[in-house]
Amino acid sequence: MRRREDYTRLVAAALILTIGILVVFQIYLLREPGRIQTVLAADQAEHVANGKTLFAANCVACHGDHGQGGIGPALNTQQFLKNTDDGVITSLIGSGVPGTAMPSWAQAHGGPFTDQQILDLTAFIRSWQATAPAAAVATATPTPSAVEGQAIFSSVCYACHGTNGQGTARAPALNDQKLLAQFDDNWFRQTVADGRPSQGMPTWGKVLSPQQIDAVVAYIRTWQKSPSAASPTSAPTATTAPATPTQAAKPTSAATAAAPGAPTAAATATTAATTAPTAAATATTAPTAAATATTAASGGAPSAADIQAGQGLFASKGCATCHGAQGQGGIGPKLVGITLTHDQIVKQVRTPPPGVMPAFSTGQVSDSELDQIIAFIESLK
Ligand code: HEC
Ligand code: HEC
Ligand code: HEC
Repeated sequence: MRRREDYTRLVAAALILTIGILVVFQIYLLREPGRIQTVLAADQAEHVANGKTLFAANCVACHGDHGQGGIGPALNTQQFLKNTDDGVITSLIGSGVPGTAMPSWAQAHGGPFTDQQILDLTAFIRSWQATAPAAAVATATPTPSAVEGQAIFSSVCYACHGTNGQGTARAPALNDQKLLAQFDDNWFRQTVADGRPSQGMPTWGKVLSPQQIDAVVAYIRTWQKSPSAASPTSAPTATTAPATPTQAAKPTSAATAAAPGAPTAAATATTAATTAPTAAATATTAPTAAATATTAASGGAPSAADIQAGQGLFASKGCATCHGAQGQGGIGPKLVGITLTHDQIVKQVRTPPPGVMPAFSTGQVSDSELDQIIAFIESLK
């Protein structure tokens, strides 16, 4: 009888081999996503880091250094992040929002950034979602947020009223307990919205929405020490900002510590010492050495020194607060490539039409300083 071939061993061996391959493959399958994930995560981290740098250099002036909002809306809220997918954020950044202060950033729309840079910005904004406040935001729309108000105050009001509302040579203190006790929120809202253009207080109702004015008043209210009237919800750091707010308006700096109850018109030492968010208006009085040195030579074409001095004055006199450090525009129009003549610019600065731009007297900006500022503006073409 023919000996039956015995396949058992072979089958067994094949089985073991198959199982072995399957096991190895399973292990591979289990590890591969991990590996891919690690690579992706590293890639993602790089995009987020790039976006962070771009955001710090270009967006914080309007959206706050943690995206908590200011002149522009908050971007670090669950409400915004949940309802807005990456594609929408990318296109909002790329094209800007015409008719508002939000510029276009994509090269395709005449902006400075490549598509990749805009994707990086989107990745950075998206990275807030993990820590974005959920609860606070649900109520943030109707209630005036002192946090939003702080961002607005430290991007526009501080230039004249001081980083902690302690006042400067240009405008009175707002953290004055008497003022705070005397007037209610409506008075503050009205005063901020209408301004007193003839006294140098801009008409903010033309640039800020009613909600933004509410927010800034809520923030001003947080300075009030009296237990009775202060708003209950106004702990400025508790509600949104996920990380520590590094912005200038922290109510803890030297100014308030030094002069808690009695903010006189002083502010002299403190304004110089504060760390302003932009390079701007800290040194309100001192024109740079260059400024005084070169005024004699201002007869002919502006020298490089004039232009440089003008740039310093443009920041220190507060022009940059509204027009951007490089005249790129913000609350006030873009000054790059301006077509006004020298005399027309002088007229605009000395006697602006009633509105947001305050008048600057020769006491605030001397004629020779103004010449240097104009030399700087004209160099921006
Ligand atoms: C000069 C002020 C300003 C600057 C600078 C600015 N923005 Fe804006 N941004 C705004 C304003 C104002 C809006 C709201 C526009 C509107 O009314 O719809 C806005 C809206 C947005 C929105 C849409 C938010 C929403 O709720 O629909 C995004 C996203 C945004 N900005 C991102 C950026 C990024 C990123 C940068 C920097 C590259 C930047 N912005 C720079 C003022 C600014
Ligand atoms: C360009 C300078 C300038 C800026 C910027 C500015 N203010 Fe004023 N503000 C003034 C001046 C000057 C006065 C005083 C006007 C007067 O003498 O009646 C004033 C007065 C006020 C008053 C009334 C104070 C009082 O004692 O009667 C309030 C409130 C106020 N400002 C709020 C604000 C807020 C809020 C902002 C930002 C949104 C702001 N200001 C931005 C210049 C400025
Ligand atoms: C509080 C905000 C603010 C400040 C501070 C400010 N400006 Fe203006 N500026 C404006 C606004 C808004 C306009 C638009 C016209 C108007 O409302 O008067 C303007 C208009 C101008 C114009 C005319 C632009 C054009 O194309 O017609 C010039 C020039 C100018 N500002 C220069 C300056 C200089 C120089 C300074 C500093 C000495 C300065 N501004 C400070 C808000 C400001």
